[in-house]
Order: sequence, then structure tokens, then C-alpha cells
Amino acid sequence: MKFFVDTADVDAIREMMDLGFCDGVTTNPSLIAKSGRDILEVTKEICDMVDGPVSAEVVALDSATMIEEGRKLAKIADNVVIKLPLTLDGLKACKVLSSEGHKINVTLCFSANQALLAAKSGATYISPFIGRLDDINIEGLDLIEDIRTIYDNYGYETEILAASIRTVNHISDCAKIGADVITAPPAVIKAMANHVLTDKGLDGFVKDIKAAGIKIL
Ligand code: E4P
Repeated sequence: MKFFVDTADVDAIREMMDLGFCDGVTTNPSLIAKSGRDILEVTKEICDMVDGPVSAEVVALDSATMIEEGRKLAKIADNVVIKLPLTLDGLKACKVLSSEGHKINVTLCFSANQALLAAKSGATYISPFIGRLDDINIEGLDLIEDIRTIYDNYGYETEILAASIRTVNHISDCAKIGADVITAPPAVIKAMANHVLTDKGLDGFVKDIKAAGIKIL
């Protein structure tokens, strides 16, 4: 399973790369705004740091301008993935830009039908938002399962990029379902390493190491 880091914070991305948990990066307009940086400048910096795909989202709402913005974003670096919203305009732009050979991440997906349309439009990735569905009392993980079934039924190669991940359980559940990629905030990915029994076990070992004076170096 590939891990993308959902942030535009370059220090956080560097830390995740050092840990070996950064196969790519996703950004969105809210994350860019939070970084306080210029979108083109920060996207370039991230693309230079990361070998894997870096999603950069258009800001226009009409297909013609989305296509123009997408082409401009793609010129930043070879690993840019153009991120488009799941609207009819976004799908139209997806069809055009994917036929030009660009990689596309269709975002803001909240239903299986939307995911089906994205696959038919040539999306490289579909981003279903788990957390935002959970927020309105709809089981977000059910959507991941439905999309997996539909894509497998027809052999669509569009990768399921599970997004809006809020908990470590979202990640293990996505792995069980067979999502191709998860994108999550750095803190959630790091929290996957935590276990109370690991801490307790290590405390015990440390006591015994001290008591017995065990040394390796
Ligand atoms: C995905 O591409 C989005 O950037 C992100 O996962 C949205 O997460 P949120 O619902 O926590 O804002």
C-alpha cells in the first residue's frame, strides 16, 4: 500500500521522507492556504524533494480554465498530478488532460457513482473522502469497499486513493479493503507506530538492561 502525506508543510514532508513513509504528497487549496506559501512556489519545492506523485489542485470551477491551470501546474515538474474536483466540469477537464498524458487525481468523491464517472474519464486516482462522510453519519469505509468492488468488476486501473483520513483505524481498514493508496496527515501516519504494550514492554527491557548492565557497544 502506498502512503501519501496530506500536507503542504515542507518540514513535515521532509520528516516523513526520513522515516520512509512518504510515497507521494497530496495538497489542496486549504492546505496551501494554511502553509501561507505561493501555490506554484511551494508545489515546486515539494516536487523537488519527493520522487513520487505530488497532487496540486486547480482553483477554477469551469472546465476551460481548469484545463489551462492544469497544464500550468503540470509544467512545474514531471511528478505533478493535476487534482480536479468531481464536478461535470472537473470530469470534462479530466478527460482532456488525461488524454494529453497528464496524471489526474479526481478529488471530493463522496459516492460510488462519482467514482465510476472518474474512472470512465481517465482518472489516475480517485480520492474518496472517508472522514467527511463519517462527519455526517455515513460510513466512509463503505464507500471504499463499494469502489473497490466496482473497479474490480470492470478492471478499471484508476487507483483508489483513500482521503480525509482521521484515524489510524481508517488506515488499517483501508488496507484490509484493498485501497491502493492512503493519504493522511503526518501525525496520523506516525501514530500508527504507537502501542501501549510496546511502551510497557520496552520499559521492562530498559529496567533489566540497567540491572544486568547489558552492553553491546
Ligand atoms: C485529500 O486529497 C484531501 O486533501 C484531504 O484528505 C482532505 O481531508 P480533510 O477532510 O481532513 O480536510
